[in-house]
Amino acid sequence: ETTPRMRTVMTALIQHVHDFAREVNLTTEEWLAGVAMLNWAGQMSNDKRNEGQLVCDVIGLESLVDDITYREASKADKPPTSSAILGPFWRADAPIRENGTTITFNTPKDAVVAYMHGQVTSAETGKPLANATVDVWQASTNGLYEQQDDDQIDCNLRGKFVTDAEGRYSFYCLRPTPYPIPFDGPAGKLLKLMDRHEYRPAHIHLIVESEGHRSLTTQIFDKDSKYLEDDSVFAVKDGLTVEFKPRKGDTQAEWDLEYNVTLAKK
Ligand code: DHB
Ligand code: FE
Repeated sequence: ETTPRMRTVMTALIQHVHDFAREVNLTTEEWLAGVAMLNWAGQMSNDKRNEGQLVCDVIGLESLVDDITYREASKADKPPTSSAILGPFWRADAPIRENGTTITFNTPKDAVVAYMHGQVTSAETGKPLANATVDVWQASTNGLYEQQDDDQIDCNLRGKFVTDAEGRYSFYCLRPTPYPIPFDGPAGKLLKLMDRHEYRPAHIHLIVESEGHRSLTTQIFDKDSKYLEDDSVFAVKDGLTVEFKPRKGDTQAEWDLEYNVTLAKK
């Protein structure tokens, strides 16, 4: 379906691509190399691998779109929790789990478990939001999300939690670890070309939704992680780093992470 907005966007894109070609005096070989890169990304992509998005991410495009999207919300008197990029590994069909349960099923030997919990409130009023959904996902210690890894059970390290009457959620998860993004395709080739590494700092992904409020897609980063300054996909922002604290008297978890979220009204 053609809309006026689509026309505006595509017209600007074509103009900028022409300007780019003129600016660098693009040669036939270089243009063909670009075409091959696009085709390669398409051929590599399937339901476990989203290479097109990965390419956008290493050039900072998803992060820029996220900044543009959050800009308006950040102007509010009481800005909501900062957003961050979705990344390629979210799944729409993650199961709803009970608060206080775990998302780590076939836990690797080197795993370190954390208890993550917090409250979802309205940014404007500070009131708790009951029945909000907290959708979380994270990679295992081998750097793989479950859909990339035949050794993990389906929906390992992901799940949706529904907040209680006080807006609270809780679950056991892994204390996340840094890992490389898939490096064997065009995204990896681009990184190499720019002398950049493929690592991401330790993070947990979240989507928080509550009726009448703007949906929040974000990531939280372990403040002690490597690569906070040079995330390969530019997702780290102020206000998204969190502190894991030692957890006492819980045989199930070594670390405690309190993470509260505020959402803006629609
Ligand atoms: C990307 C994001 C992630 O969260 C991740 O784990 C790997 C890659 C990305 O934005 O490309
Ligand atoms: Fe991730």
